Amino acid sequence: MKLNHMLSTKDFSRKQIDSILSLAEKFEPVALREKRCNILDGKILSLLFFEPSTRTKMSFETAMLRLGGKVIDMGSIETSSVMKGESLADTVRVVSSYADSIVLRHPKEGAAFMASEFSTVPIINAGDGAGHHPTQTLLDLHTIRRESKLDGLTITLAGDLKYGRTVHSLCYALSHYNARINLASPPELVLPDRIIQDLKNRGIKVTKFDTLENAVKDSDVLYMTRIQRERFPDPAEYNKVSKEMRVTLKLLENCKPDMKVMHPLPRVDEIEPEVDKTPHACYFKQAFYGIPVRMAVLVMAMEEKYGKVL
Ligand code: CP
Repeated sequence: MKLNHMLSTKDFSRKQIDSILSLAEKFEPVALREKRCNILDGKILSLLFFEPSTRTKMSFETAMLRLGGKVIDMGSIETSSVMKGESLADTVRVVSSYADSIVLRHPKEGAAFMASEFSTVPIINAGDGAGHHPTQTLLDLHTIRRESKLDGLTITLAGDLKYGRTVHSLCYALSHYNARINLASPPELVLPDRIIQDLKNRGIKVTKFDTLENAVKDSDVLYMTRIQRERFPDPAEYNKVSKEMRVTLKLLENCKPDMKVMHPLPRVDEIEPEVDKTPHACYFKQAFYGIPVRMAVLVMAMEEKYGKVL
């Protein structure tokens, strides 16, 4: 399978997702440093991050380097010509003449779609405001597939479901796997109606719960998210809701013994540190899976543009 731009999960077919995840599994020994591979030798990846990142940025970089490619990084916006007023369109036009693919994170929803209009190389959306984060979704699906079960799973999505782009992207992709989705969030941060309607139109059973305790009882996976201070126009509003939902040892007493707790990270206070030592904790492994999944995404994007790589 080949990929051009990767902007959203909405248009992924199950066949496309399964191909990426199968290829990611093949790259796991390379990500674990058990095997060497240099199939992206001679290729250059560019990183344009207009918002902070640790995992997405560094796992793309690791994936590219471990496959023999090179990385160029615009660095922080403060040290770039963005500070002189250069537009995103011009930045993308220029950088696409330097690199073979661009990974873009931007605070504005729709920025990656706009960038794809001006780029001559594949754009990979690494998060656009409250919009989408498709490679996070792929690594989330890969984690579920490797650590739990993907077909017919019951998943609780919890925390910030309004602004959380990782849950928005994940919901759409889960519609291919006959999932049942439980929702648990503070009332101010519920999943937008348009997404719930889209999911229902795709035949997904979506249930809203008042408490996390009730939502997780029958779940195979609890997908917890951070309440994102940076997305709140009003800090008082953030303070009101930030401590409302928390994964604790007590909560886990009433869930399935093999339920996995996932989180895209970074976390703040929403998972008690003691949970890390339990067999439920899956979030650090989830972060690792970002490397083989992004290896698969990069190889497919390069193949589409430049011909056979594998
Ligand atoms: N999960 C995620 O996108 O993490 P970063 O913000 O650190 O990239």
